[in-house]
Amino acid sequence: PRPGPLRDALLNWYDRVHALRGMPWRKPYNHAWDAEQKAQRAYEVWVSEIMLQQTQVATVIPYYNKWMERFPTIGDLAASDIDTVNGLWKGLGYYSRAARLLSSAKKVVEDFDGRLPDNAQDMENRIPGIGRYSAGAICSIAYNERVPVLDGNVNRLLSRVLALHAPPKSKQTLDVLWAGASAFVKDADRPGDVNQALIELGSTVCKVREPSCGACPLQQWCAAYQRQETQGKAKGTNY
Ligand code: ADE
Repeated sequence: PRPGPLRDALLNWYDRVHALRGMPWRKPYNHAWDAEQKAQRAYEVWVSEIMLQQTQVATVIPYYNKWMERFPTIGDLAASDIDTVNGLWKGLGYYSRAARLLSSAKKVVEDFDGRLPDNAQDMENRIPGIGRYSAGAICSIAYNERVPVLDGNVNRLLSRVLALHAPPKSKQTLDVLWAGASAFVKDADRPGDVNQALIELGSTVCKVREPSCGACPLQQWCAAYQRQETQGKAKGTNY
C-alpha cells in the first residue's frame, strides 16, 4: 500500500495517545539545533537504544536517568572506566553492551572530535555495536534523517500489514520488510517520530499474542486483520 495515509494515521495516534510518554530520551526534534546539539541528541538516543535492546522501557528509565546524570556528554563517558560503567549498568544485564558504549565513546572522541557520525551509513560502518536498526533509530530521531528501522516489533507489524507469507528469516523476506519500513519514512517530515511510532505500535498494540486490533490506527489497511489472521499464529508467517 502507499504509505501516505498510513503514516498520517500512525502519527496521529502517536501524537494523541503516546508521544513523550514519560520517556526521558524523547524530545521533539528541533530544526534550530546546531551540529553540536544534534550530536548531543545522538549520544542520548544511542544510550537509550542500547539500553532498550534487551530491556523493557519501564526498567530502562531510571538507569537512563542515572547514566545521564553521571555522563551528561559522550566526553564524560569516554573519560570514565569500565568499573564505573559496569556499576551504573548493574542490574540491566548483558554487560557487553556497557563495555561497547565505553569503547565506542572513546573512539568517537579520538577519531570524530566527540561527535557521532551525522548519517546512518557512516554510523553503521564506523561505530562498533551500531547496526542498521540502531543507526536508523539514532539518525532519524537525532538528525531527522529519513532512514528506516526494523526491529522485532516493527518486523511483526509490517508482516501483518502486508500479510506476508514468507520464510521469516530469509534475506528476501527481510528485504521486503526493510523496503516497507523505508516507505514509511520516505519524504516524511518527522522520520524519527514515524519510527518511534512504529516501534511503539509494534510493542504495545501489535503484540505477539492477542494483538489489540481494535485500538490499532492501521487496522483498515492491515491485510492480516482482513484475513482474520491476527489471533493465533498464522501458518508460514512470522506473525
Ligand atoms: N524501543 C527501542 N527504541 C525505543 C524508543 N525510541 N521508544 C520506545 N521504545 C523503544
